[in-house]
Amino acid sequence: MTSPAPFPPPDLESALRQALEQVAALQLQFPAQFPGGTTEGNVYSPRRLDGHAEGANTGWTTGFWTGLLWQAYVFDGNPRYRRSAESHLPGYAERLERRINIDHHDMGFLYTPSCVAAWQLTGNADARRTALAAADCLLRRYLPTAGIIQAWGDLDDPAQRGRIIIDCLMNLPLLHWASATSDDPRYRAAALSHLVHSRDHLVRPDASSFHTFHFDVETGAPLHGSTAQGAADDSCWARGQAWGIYGFALNHGHAPELGLLEVAARQADYFLAHLPEHGIAYWDLAYGDGSGEPWDSSASAIAACGLLELAGHLADDPRGRRYRAAALHILSSLAARCAGRIPDSDALLLHGVYSKPHGKGVDEASLWGDYFYLEALARATRGWRTHWRTDPPPDAS
Ligand code: GLY
Repeated sequence: MTSPAPFPPPDLESALRQALEQVAALQLQFPAQFPGGTTEGNVYSPRRLDGHAEGANTGWTTGFWTGLLWQAYVFDGNPRYRRSAESHLPGYAERLERRINIDHHDMGFLYTPSCVAAWQLTGNADARRTALAAADCLLRRYLPTAGIIQAWGDLDDPAQRGRIIIDCLMNLPLLHWASATSDDPRYRAAALSHLVHSRDHLVRPDASSFHTFHFDVETGAPLHGSTAQGAADDSCWARGQAWGIYGFALNHGHAPELGLLEVAARQADYFLAHLPEHGIAYWDLAYGDGSGEPWDSSASAIAACGLLELAGHLADDPRGRRYRAAALHILSSLAARCAGRIPDSDALLLHGVYSKPHGKGVDEASLWGDYFYLEALARATRGWRTHWRTDPPPDAS
């Protein structure tokens, strides 16, 4: 593992400025193309997939690049970021029309920070139509007998049938948004049913989480938990726990009656209890300092967003202050130990892991790590509402 960079931490305003400088450099390299999902030696190359042009819009992570450009546009104001982000938008529509790499649940990761953001920021009606088409695509993965959204693969694939994953919580704001913007309640109904099953089966009694859980699609019976990217079926994959904290907290804004705030808080307590003092998670929460295992800085960045979201909902509760303090500590530590800098790296956040069991993206930066690091910094320093917040703002009701 990389040795820690020096402490004390920089202030978060300068960390935000530094992160925006990295986006500026990356935009010059990738004004219209997409970088890969993870770096190679801390440097991004154009995305590659057989049968597609270099830098084409493929895979589940391109939304984070468009989303980083939208964030840079919001916080820096330079129109070049908007032009780049807008140049991506037709490609998102084309992916749906030509069914390019969309046999999965990650419609929210792809279309929320790109097309919903475009609609929210600029009123782009084409982007709204594309995001609605993406929500339709996600809705087609809803299996009514089991009441769940299947995560991966063809709906008839026996290995994947009836399997849900905790990451999907972040894809549900797209469904809530689709119902709100179209007045069609079907998206929201699917999201609520999926949420109940996620709450009841992905979260264990001690508030740790299964990465994935299987249901019998004929009877709806819950079967068993398993992992794809964690250390073991019964361990707690760090990024999955972070998706749970942020995902349940975000969905609480849409369905306060489901008790999701308490679930998110309990998941946060588990995460914090298994976090090293320096605040950077190892890729599975089974590991700690001295394990020799790599960090997953992206898990800490996502968790920081979730803790800030939780703190916002718990403003009158001492737990809210504790979660905000924990988020700021994590962010300071990420800024001090993991921030990327030109010329060594064009990424924002170093020392992440994509999938340790598959040997993919180990001790590398990732587009999602970069995206949620910038988002967490913006939430912490500017009180930014973020594009995942598709529930109406308090003053709009
Ligand atoms: N959603 C996939 C991952 O977190 O790796």
